[in-house]
Amino acid sequence: MIESLLSNWDGESVFVHNDRPTGAVVIIAIHSSRLGPATGGTRMKPYASLGEAFEDAFRLSAGMTYKFAVPDLDRGGGKAVIVVPEDLAAEDRPDLLRRYGALIHQLGGLFYTGPDVGTTAADMDVIAETGHPYIFCRTPECGGGGSPGPYTALGVFTAIQVAQANIDGRTSLEGCRVLVQGVGSVGRRLIEHLQSVGAEVLFSEVDAELTSRYRDEKGLQFVEPEMVPSAKCDIYAPCALGGVLNEGTIPRLKCRAVAGGANNQLSRQEAAEQLMARGILYAPDYVVNVGGAMAITGIELQGWSEGEAKKRVSESVREALFRIFQLSKDEGITTDAAAFRIAEDNLARSRLNDVDPSS
Ligand code: PHE
Repeated sequence: MIESLLSNWDGESVFVHNDRPTGAVVIIAIHSSRLGPATGGTRMKPYASLGEAFEDAFRLSAGMTYKFAVPDLDRGGGKAVIVVPEDLAAEDRPDLLRRYGALIHQLGGLFYTGPDVGTTAADMDVIAETGHPYIFCRTPECGGGGSPGPYTALGVFTAIQVAQANIDGRTSLEGCRVLVQGVGSVGRRLIEHLQSVGAEVLFSEVDAELTSRYRDEKGLQFVEPEMVPSAKCDIYAPCALGGVLNEGTIPRLKCRAVAGGANNQLSRQEAAEQLMARGILYAPDYVVNVGGAMAITGIELQGWSEGEAKKRVSESVREALFRIFQLSKDEGITTDAAAFRIAEDNLARSRLNDVDPSS
């Protein structure tokens, strides 16, 4: 299993840690340190198999490389996956996080992390007890920049505006039907942005409690999870897990564009071609969702104010998508291929010399 996974991955290093007290397995995948120290979130959840967890870590880490490379930020791509047992006791979690922090500390700056699916800014506080100074997004009370969710959501909102303008020249989202899949830390803020400009918001969610909060209390139109691919909307915004754009879903889509915050939305590269063939505009996930990582690293390392971070995120997402949509039109390539080309150009221009392990 590991042979084929590794040979299909063009990353640099992978660290595997066996957490004996809990039975958890920590996988830290360093995809590229060409532009700077590998940085990426910590995804913490049970997986059906260890193979799936490796695959997730490998693909997500590559996504981080391209995410930083498109706006030419000086950070590399990495990702950590903590495979936890289904029955992990709540009281065992903090110590697991502290052991994980110690591991990051031992890596001595090879890997920096922040939150991802299954972890929060409060978890970063705990990880930083042993992992400092390699942990982003601690809570403001602990000296960090806090949750990246609001900044990611702002970037997704900007991407939706650019996508809509690209489709029919409309500069306003008023009356535009947007389906937000997942009301987690990104989706819920995205909904607020969309409502503030008069968009018609539909949502989907797998968690019963969140569903009832948004459907029954806030009165939003709910789409059953299995109906998401065929829901009629202008923009489909995946903000949950990856792999949602695949052979089964693409032929059913009734949207005009896809622009959302989830990582790894395309199941395979061919999915981008299938979307193009169907005339659906795809805003590449790692371009759309750069906001959180960009803002918090800027706030914590360069001292950006909240306002400056927001301005930079909007401008950066807007500019990158304009370039990508244009390149895709000019060259007749998918938007995914266009984004990849821009990322690869920036990676190739990096100054690091031959003795670097990333080369
Ligand atoms: N997990 C987020 C992402 O995929 C956010 C993040 C990563 C934030 C790394 C800070 C540092 O981009």
